[in-house]
Amino acid sequence: MSDTLIQSHLGENRSFDPPKQFGSAANINADRLQQAHQSADSDSQKYWAEAARDLVWHREWTQTLDWSRKPYAKWFVGGELNATESCLDRHMGTARENKTAILWEGEGGDVREYSYAQLLQEVCQAANALKSQGIAKGDRVAIYMPMVPEIVVAMLACARIGATHSVVFGGFSAESLRDRIQDAGCKMVITADGGYRKGKIVELKKAVDDALADNACPTVTSVLVYQRTAQEIPMVEGRDVWWHDTVPQQEMSCHPEYVDSEHPLFILYTSGTTGKPKGVVHSTGGYMTHALRTCNWVFDLKDEDVYWCTADAGWITGHTYVTYGPLAAGATNFMYEGAPTYPTPDRFWSMIAKHDVSIFYTAPTAIRTFMRLGDQHPQAHDMDSLRLLGTVGEPNNPEARTWYHKVIGGERCPIVDTWWQTETGGIMITPLPGVTATKPGTATRPLPGIAADVVREDGTSCDVDEGGYLVVKEPWPSMIRGVWGDEQRFVDTYWNKFDGNYYFAGDGARKDKDGYFWIMGRVDDVVNVSGHRLGTMEVESALVKHPSIAEAAVVSRPDEITGEAIVAFVTPIQGKEAGEALKNDLMAMVAKEIGAFARPAQIRFANAVPKTRSGKIMRRLLRELASSGTVTGDTTTLEDFSVIANLRDEEE
Ligand code: WTA
Repeated sequence: MSDTLIQSHLGENRSFDPPKQFGSAANINADRLQQAHQSADSDSQKYWAEAARDLVWHREWTQTLDWSRKPYAKWFVGGELNATESCLDRHMGTARENKTAILWEGEGGDVREYSYAQLLQEVCQAANALKSQGIAKGDRVAIYMPMVPEIVVAMLACARIGATHSVVFGGFSAESLRDRIQDAGCKMVITADGGYRKGKIVELKKAVDDALADNACPTVTSVLVYQRTAQEIPMVEGRDVWWHDTVPQQEMSCHPEYVDSEHPLFILYTSGTTGKPKGVVHSTGGYMTHALRTCNWVFDLKDEDVYWCTADAGWITGHTYVTYGPLAAGATNFMYEGAPTYPTPDRFWSMIAKHDVSIFYTAPTAIRTFMRLGDQHPQAHDMDSLRLLGTVGEPNNPEARTWYHKVIGGERCPIVDTWWQTETGGIMITPLPGVTATKPGTATRPLPGIAADVVREDGTSCDVDEGGYLVVKEPWPSMIRGVWGDEQRFVDTYWNKFDGNYYFAGDGARKDKDGYFWIMGRVDDVVNVSGHRLGTMEVESALVKHPSIAEAAVVSRPDEITGEAIVAFVTPIQGKEAGEALKNDLMAMVAKEIGAFARPAQIRFANAVPKTRSGKIMRRLLRELASSGTVTGDTTTLEDFSVIANLRDEEE
């Protein structure tokens, strides 16, 4: 990378110089953690301001936090930055310039590597390509891609020019994609001709074509298509542009667009209690501050590490711990395109051995799946390079945790169980490896500066071991800034439960005598299947689109592999036959409307859906029925008792 290029990115108008090398070797020990807690407890704004200084700022902020218009927080007010400077430019001229930023393996075994300098160049060229398509600061861009390095390039290219990206997981259907494009008013879609999954091609471009058909998304003016599979696909004249026809031809540098600290870096859709997903909005300065800090601290990143977070970029974990956090920390980031057990069950372990992965962060579902496959697959590989393991939520059976520790971690790797959400932007409650004494099943304690608590219905703190609602009592930098286009929903969902004072996470929890948090799952109508958050109403809305269905009620039951599984109770329209054919139709309906991952594990027919007198679906009762087949407790508010009797008697 030439000197002039570095200067053109970093040299001008900077009000203060950031530390040259930062990020690696956080070296957090018990003393430093203690100090951090003390500092955050005595002056949290000072604490966060210090954390923010780990980023590259173009203009320093004048006010650390503005919390005068609750629940709308503003962090680092008046500050200006570009997220990509902290992820890329910052490493130029340091030992990291030629360090591997992304080490990628395709499902077919092809390997690609990008140094930080190469990644910067590619991001600049992609950013210029976006500009040439008329994309500018403030525009929204949908990204619907496989897990190839270009998905990270696409995200960063948007950030480079101040466009707000909305990544839609490649497993979502054309309908889900269309809803999200429409909601955010995206001007462009970045996609691929296809992606590989279990040896088959996932038809991403076809889904984009379907989503945009009949002028359903009039805001979209162009579609940028990365060629991954080289299969024949139709290109729409005047709308579709091949990545390889425009990106490599662009200028290799692109001046970063400096944005206000509060500028929306991205929108990420997540499920709530209604049929319509929420566009969770994240800021730039605050989000990046927490992404960098948590990535460094929780994974104790060192320069020699090869770090692998297995999440897809379509989820928040893929934003914070595949893209922004590790790159800002200057890590070597391993990425894998395909299915975990393809072509053989030991695929993950062979890649850990081959690439000397030292930090491995995955979902409990994956762990449970592998455990079922036996010990011999991991044991066939030398995984001595591993030194740290992580999960988002402990596997819900202790055997799986023991297995992870013993068979994968060789009994020498600490496990970090991290609690957080799409809305929190980054990890909130977690042990720090080698510092916090862990207990299996708990995410332990909140990080410094995170005022998490468990409270009762009236907002008072629960006693030791008393179950209650998980809340955060003070703002933190990477908190959700809003629901795209729906202020009321933002206020109602997260703030109104406790009169606008506390952020309500939607999870139940209890705190033990050591102040450790035990997460007890969602208290709302959201289910978590294989780590994918889904609203029960979303699935219900998809089911009732079927012409033979009058009503549907969806609940979850515990599942050994996926954590939770979806059980749907459906009432066919009079005269329609409730049989296997209809069941199959309904499964296909859900896959089409939401995506294959949302397919119910079980569909049960009922002559009516049990409701309270006020018309609310009696989910608790259905949940019990779905998990155990029995109904207990007070059912006096039921509208139709025969319904329950019928359900109870019905055999699958
Ligand atoms: C659940 C994923 C138990 C929780 C990063 C939360 C957890 C939801 C844990 C967020 C944990 C997350 N233990 N449950 N350590 N961490 N969860 O938005 O119910 O996809 O509300 O973000 O996952 O899911 P989301």
